[in-house]
Amino acid sequence: MTSLPPFPARRGDELSPKEGRSPAHPRDPVQRIIGAVWDFGALLVAVELNLAGHLAKEPLPVDELAKRCGAHSGALRRVLRTLEPYDLVRFSEGKRWALTAAGALLHNDAGAAIQGHIRGRAEPDSWRDILTWPEKVTADQPVTPSPRRRRRGLSASADIGLADLLDSVDTFGALLVVAQLGLADRLASTSMRIEDLAADCGADEKTLSWMLRRLVSHGLFSRRGGLYVTRPAAETLQKDRPDSMLPAVSMNGQTLWWEMLRRLPDTVRLGMPTLPDGSSSTYAYLAAHPDILARFQTFMGTRTYPVAQWLAEEAVPGSTVVDVGGGHGTILAEILKKQPTCHGVLLERPAVITATRTSLAGQGLLDRCTLLAGNFFTEVPAGGHTYILGSVLHNWGDARARRILERVRQAMTPTDSRLWCVDALLPSDNEPHPGRSLDMRMLSLFGAGQERTRREYETLLADAGLTVRRQARLPHALTMTEAVIAAQ
Ligand SMILES: C[S@@+](CC[C@H](N)C(=O)[O-])C[C@H]1O[C@@H](n2cnc3c(N)ncnc32)[C@H](O)[C@@H]1O
Repeated sequence: MTSLPPFPARRGDELSPKEGRSPAHPRDPVQRIIGAVWDFGALLVAVELNLAGHLAKEPLPVDELAKRCGAHSGALRRVLRTLEPYDLVRFSEGKRWALTAAGALLHNDAGAAIQGHIRGRAEPDSWRDILTWPEKVTADQPVTPSPRRRRRGLSASADIGLADLLDSVDTFGALLVVAQLGLADRLASTSMRIEDLAADCGADEKTLSWMLRRLVSHGLFSRRGGLYVTRPAAETLQKDRPDSMLPAVSMNGQTLWWEMLRRLPDTVRLGMPTLPDGSSSTYAYLAAHPDILARFQTFMGTRTYPVAQWLAEEAVPGSTVVDVGGGHGTILAEILKKQPTCHGVLLERPAVITATRTSLAGQGLLDRCTLLAGNFFTEVPAGGHTYILGSVLHNWGDARARRILERVRQAMTPTDSRLWCVDALLPSDNEPHPGRSLDMRMLSLFGAGQERTRREYETLLADAGLTVRRQARLPHALTMTEAVIAAQ
């Protein structure tokens, strides 16, 4: 392998003390609406496992709480960690979880109504109904949201408060309608009155009106002189953007995701999810359902695109880049376009690699790529300067993530290779962070798959014989961790 000059240390060499915070991005509001639905799953767990009832008696360490409510301790800890920024529970100095005043609302006299609302919204019929809202709206069938929760008494330090969390399912329904009716594109170059907009897309005016007002309060649209206009957040829902949020909305609005979220209380009891068709894992399920797999990969492509552009700036000319679990090749494509002298290798599961080939061929990049159908648990190709694990490690628990890292380390050379890992790093305090919602998604879909704090991430790498050289904050609340083989 040709030796390259030492890798330049450039942008983002150090993270600020508030390591979890990313700069604001127009995609954040849409991401927050989607994330709140996964946080709602944590709330559902709190209700179904009667967490408030147990903690109302006394603060408890997580293991004891898990014992009392029949839960898997590790999974329960992640749920508590998700509810903490909503100010429902607090982790105290004595390593005990305590109920806050807002958390007590789930248990006291007012609690029955709130619990009823949460349970009602998680009913299969209720969720199925929401997924049909886009059709209903255009079939002139009015859609009524469940009454908004009173904000009084509900405070939260999070970017999105508990009241918004309770409304999250209806708000996501509104987002789904706006996405499927293409309203962000319709309003791209003009402002419109609600009656004209409703007529333009054949929708029920009253229904569309409450939905848009709901999304105004989440920063997607504004209303001036009776006219609706898009804000930058809604522009991310336009369709012809490589980083469009439309596939994210569509992915989160499909039945499997909702079913897995609805099962979260059972997942927390067992410590692992059960798939509706009995598949052994979410990736096995996706392999058996090509339509959902294709949607998932499209979603990953748009989610990864801003990250790919960032990484492309960092690639060294003339180097070989090995993307491990590279999906449809979003990262590799941007690197190869930016660096015409780079060569790419992409390892993916056999169920995915054909679509990867089609995608890279369509961009005229196939002659500079080697595509390998394989399994990163058994072998990772040698000969790379830069190895990439983009949003891969968070799909797996520590033992399996370590196994992947060991395979990568075995393929690397001590002097000429580096590894880039891209994942969300959770803050170690109780700051709100999009990674917490992502963690609920990982728990629902992958069980042991998880987001990690910076320290947990560094420990994982160290256990696999790798050492962190630098970390940099990426778009979309993600972090790039660059690692090399640790000195013996
Ligand atoms: C969350 S996606 C990330 C895709 C891509 N790296 C990105 O950043 O957009 C994880 C990828 O790991 C792949 N994967 C899962 N298990 C694998 C295995 N055993 N061997 C190789 N790839 C695998 C999946 O097919 C999926 O494309």
